[in-house]
Amino acid sequence: YRRLRVALLGAGAVGSQVADLLRKHGPELADRAGATLELVGIAVRDVDADRDVELPRELLTTDAEPLIVGSDIVIELMGGIEPARSYLLQAINSGADVVTANKALLATHGPEIFDAADQVGASVYYEAAAAGAIPIIRPLRDSLAGDRVQRIMGIVNGTTNYILDRMDSEGADFADVLADAQRLGYAEADPTADVEGFDAAQKAAILASLAFHTTVPLGAVHREGITAIDKAMMDAARHAGYVIKLLAVCERLTGETETGGDAISVRVYPALISRSHPLASVHGANNAVFVQAEAAGNLMFYGAGAGGVQTASAVLGDVVSAARRHIAGGVGVGESTRANLPIVEIGRVTTRY
Ligand code: NDP
Ligand code: HSE
Repeated sequence: YRRLRVALLGAGAVGSQVADLLRKHGPELADRAGATLELVGIAVRDVDADRDVELPRELLTTDAEPLIVGSDIVIELMGGIEPARSYLLQAINSGADVVTANKALLATHGPEIFDAADQVGASVYYEAAAAGAIPIIRPLRDSLAGDRVQRIMGIVNGTTNYILDRMDSEGADFADVLADAQRLGYAEADPTADVEGFDAAQKAAILASLAFHTTVPLGAVHREGITAIDKAMMDAARHAGYVIKLLAVCERLTGETETGGDAISVRVYPALISRSHPLASVHGANNAVFVQAEAAGNLMFYGAGAGGVQTASAVLGDVVSAARRHIAGGVGVGESTRANLPIVEIGRVTTRY
């Protein structure tokens, strides 16, 4: 097989598992990709830090730039905006295809990164940027490209679902369960992103942009987190036959503009879910996304929404796709964001499902 040089930026909860699986399943992945994936180095902040899995010391470096230049595929799993943004742009401009799970970056600088990739014919893969291990980016971008999505509704943050679920089932304390979510590798480096709904809002912006073929700026997403939810609220919901879940809702509003055109609304907020609703059975750090499309009808996607090894599955799927495309000398994967639909801020509409 032809050898492809793969650089990994970040070896935390997700990156360490990606490195481990790449090394463990190298020959199998090579058969699927049609290329040998050679991990040339792993950029971290501290080469001596404790890691979830043992990684060869000689692969670790604090100097990302030499790794990026000359690599065929760059996997960004550092998180945050900078230096992740600059490294991805540098990778794209040096001829690499890139894979990222960084929803914070894509929700704020997605157009800049996709445009840079389009200009040089590179591809940006980001299946892990929404709903962890669940395949949802490709279904929206590719499988449903011939349909008209009307609505997406679901649980897209694992940490908050894990917290609310344990508060509901065990009466657990918010701060204790959040600490567990951090220990288990579900939470963002700054967990405010999870509990204040920023992470879910970023994912909702990404999903809505794909579903409605437009660009949804993060600022247009109505956002509420779960920090105001206390034991008394959980108890009251339970007694009334409901459970509280942090929901993301992305909707096409038909004929909503002055000229009779469509608009969209994207919102994230805690809602009361009837115990008999399928979303009430989403436990732990799992996520579930319902997609309603004009021709396909109702589709449901369910699975692990957070966690290092689970998310690594989605990242490695992207790496195999990137490798296949790279050796085929293919063209960039278009983002098809030309619809330019107006976005309507309508906040909470229904808070009971
Ligand atoms: P972690 O915080 O666990 O790991 C981040 C890694 O990046 C660490 O290895 C860190 O180095 C390295 N890093 C951070 N900043 C720099 C820098 N400036 N230079 C070099 N290395 C740096 O994050 P996660 O693995 O949890 O998440 C990674 C990405 O994946 C994020 O974008 C996150 O949103 C996304 N994601 C995470 C999921 C999860 O379940 N955890 C699920 C889906 C997506 P060091 O180890 O030395 O500190
Ligand atoms: N912190 C995120 C979550 C990771 O809990 O859902 C997965 O994107």
